[in-house]
Parts: sequence; C-alpha cells; structure tokens
Amino acid sequence: MSILELSGVNAYYGNSHVLFDLEMAIEENDVVTLLGRNGAGKTTTLRAITGTVPRREGHIEYRGEDISDLSVEGISQRGIKLVPEGRRIFPTLTVTENIQLAHELAAEPREIEEMFDIFPVLDELRKNRGQNLSGGEQQMLSVARALVQNPDLLLLDEPTEGLAPVIVEDLREVLGDVVERDVTVLMTEQNVDFALDLGEQAYIIDKGSNVWEGSVDDLQDREDLLDEYLSVGGAEAE
Ligand SMILES: Nc1ncnc2c1ncn2[C@@H]1O[C@H](COP(=O)(O)OP(=O)(O)O)[C@@H](O)[C@H]1O
Ligand SMILES: [Mg+2]
Repeated sequence: MSILELSGVNAYYGNSHVLFDLEMAIEENDVVTLLGRNGAGKTTTLRAITGTVPRREGHIEYRGEDISDLSVEGISQRGIKLVPEGRRIFPTLTVTENIQLAHELAAEPREIEEMFDIFPVLDELRKNRGQNLSGGEQQMLSVARALVQNPDLLLLDEPTEGLAPVIVEDLREVLGDVVERDVTVLMTEQNVDFALDLGEQAYIIDKGSNVWEGSVDDLQDREDLLDEYLSVGGAEAE
C-alpha cells in the first residue's frame, strides 16, 4: 500500500484553478521528486497535501486514511512535515534554539544530537543566530527542524533554490543521509541533476496536470521530456 495517494486532486486560489485532477502514489521510504517548470503547480501540490491551499477537491489518502478534510494541524500530527520554500527559520534564535523549539512541538521527536550527527555543519554553528547563517546553512537548519520532529513523510519545496553549486553538493550529501533514516521524501525541484541523483521515482507536472511518471533511471534518458517540461538550462547542465 502506498503511504500517500492523491486522486483527482484539484486546487484553487480564489477563482484561479491551478491543479487539475492530479494523481500520485508514493511508496513508503521512497524518495520521490516532483518536477516541473516555474508555475507548474509544485508548491501548490505540497500545499494541497498539508492542507494549506485555500481550496482543494479530490482525495488524499495517507496510510489509507482520507486526510483531505483534516485540519492543517491534524495533518501535521499524522507525521507529514513541510520544509517550505525560502527556509523559515527564526533569525534571532541560535541554531540549537531553532532545533529545540521544533523538538518541543513534536509529540515523539528524534534526539537533538542526532541532528548534529546528520548535519555536521550545524554542529559547528550551534550558538550562531539564524540570521548569521549562509543560505545553505539555513536550508540545512530548516531541514533539521523538520526532521527532529520525526516525520514519516518529509516534504521539501525546492531545497536547492538559490544555493551555490558547491553548497548544493553538501546538501545532496546530507539529504542522502536523511533518506537512509526511515523517512519517505517528496521533494519539488527545478534542479534536474539534483533530483535525478537523490530521487528514485519522479513525477513531472505541467500547468497543474500530470504529464509523466516513472523511475529517475528512465527519466535520465528522456531528453525530450527534460527539454519540454523543465526549466531552460536544466537539461543540459553538467
Ligand atoms: N497565493 C497565490 N494566489 C494566486 N495564485 C497563486 C498563488 N500561489 C501560486 N499561484 C499560481 O498557481 C500556479 C502554480 O504555482 P506554484 O504551485 O507556486 O508553482 P511552482 O511551485 O511549480 O512554481 C501559478 O500559476 C501561480 O501563479
Ligand atoms: Mg514552487
């Protein structure tokens, strides 16, 4: 049985209809990438899952339970955590305090020290305030804050956005470690190389509709898809 299944999901911002009968099925412990151009509906898909889009229709099943009518809180309590675009950390709190706060909010959190094992960069910056971290360090802190809450399903919205290539490489390494730890990951990306490297399964959406799904191995050879549905430059990046 899939851990998460979307069927016939539609989403709206006011009168604007942005997701059209979306279908997805995610198996437990898989790393699934949701790809698509800017504006394709990737963030909205994650918001539909977490219940934070203004209006949605259709069915979203999590471990066999229909969660489409649950509150945002109820969905979060079931173990679905979103690391939103743009890294929302507390700027005036230290790295440790940021993680502690997330830890306190969770019913069955992971150990705080485990986060410092996974993210050695953060271990060296324990007393630094969020606002003094680089973009890459903030992204790692943002992931650590979600992970310490011990999610079953971790949603990452464009984790590499705005990061320099060398930092993307660091992030790839730590996320490689994260995905070994009994957590299912659904991430959105425009960085195709990153997605192909970390992911196992991929979905491509365009204008709010499914256009392709399959393994990243199959996607690797599909330059036609990469050219047609992903951002310019993404397909030929080395
Ligand atoms: N808060 C919002 N209000 C109105 N329209 C929005 C809002 N957020 C996103 N949209 C629109 O919904 C569509 C999908 O956006 P989004 O899910 O953010 O795409 P992506 O994450 O793939 O770039 C776009 O056309 C975007 O302009
Ligand atoms: Mg987005």
